[in-house]
Amino acid sequence: MYPELKEKHALVTGAARGFGRAIAVRLAREGTRVVVNYRRSMSDAEKVVSEIKSEGGEAVAIRADVGKEESLDRLFEKIKTELGHLDIVVANAAYGVPGELMKATSKYWEVTLAASARSLLDMTRRAVPLMTKGYGRIISITSDGGQKVIPGYGVVGPAKAALESITRGLAFELAPKGILVNGVLAGLAETRAAGSIPGADEVIKHARHHTPMGRLVEPEDIARVVTFLTSNEANMICGQFIVVDGGRGIVG
Ligand SMILES: NC(=O)c1ccc[n+]([C@@H]2O[C@H](COP(=O)([O-])OP(=O)(O)OC[C@H]3O[C@@H](n4cnc5c(N)ncnc54)[C@H](OP(=O)(O)O)[C@@H]3O)[C@@H](O)[C@H]2O)c1
Repeated sequence: MYPELKEKHALVTGAARGFGRAIAVRLAREGTRVVVNYRRSMSDAEKVVSEIKSEGGEAVAIRADVGKEESLDRLFEKIKTELGHLDIVVANAAYGVPGELMKATSKYWEVTLAASARSLLDMTRRAVPLMTKGYGRIISITSDGGQKVIPGYGVVGPAKAALESITRGLAFELAPKGILVNGVLAGLAETRAAGSIPGADEVIKHARHHTPMGRLVEPEDIARVVTFLTSNEANMICGQFIVVDGGRGIVG
């Protein structure tokens, strides 16, 4: 438990399911008031809010497409009205259609980069003016697809590479304000996103077999490390990515 997270305010994007859901629930258990952002999965987002409230926590579900600036304007306006200020942003949401890079259209490139990379910058620009209580933590979620080729990962690979670079750039620019920007590089987990990778069953079997820890990542593994990064225990970690993959990345 991290007492400093009690009564903090956090936005978690894409929090209706998968990693985002686990991060929202974990932060709420620390006493953090959580904005459960969703784009389409309204009923799942409401379920996450109910789950948090049933445990005595505080949460509110707010719809927004993180890839659209006007949608982010409405999201941050609502956060300002309903919460007053913000301490933590977890840029978890990502969008991408599997396929070959050579077949990706310009439109698909733009939509993927907007939702999965530029959104970090767009949200940070809106979040920093709300970080008025002397506390600021911004966390992005990436995969090894930002640095390696994952067959069929399409434009998501370049988007993750951009996300990582934006994370470091923002860490540099915001550290003097006492706002820490870091990321988590997650290994494969059996969320809905992983199921859309071409040949998912084989990929999952292969990853499980080649992971020294003998199992795939669970959303709670990511949630614990994100929570650590939002705490004071991590207050000299700046512009870094913590790899949470059960050792998969150290095996050739
Ligand atoms: N699963 C893995 O193996 C893995 C590994 C490494 C990194 N990651 C990263 O971890 C993060 C979470 O992935 P996940 O596996 O938990 O995926 P997931 O279960 O598919 O959830 C993705 C979430 O993103 C939301 N989303 C997509 N586009 C959005 C947009 N434009 N605006 C707002 N929300 C949007 C979706 O919301 P709606 O349903 O409401 O549209 C959904 O809740 C992603 O950044 C992913 O790249 C995942």
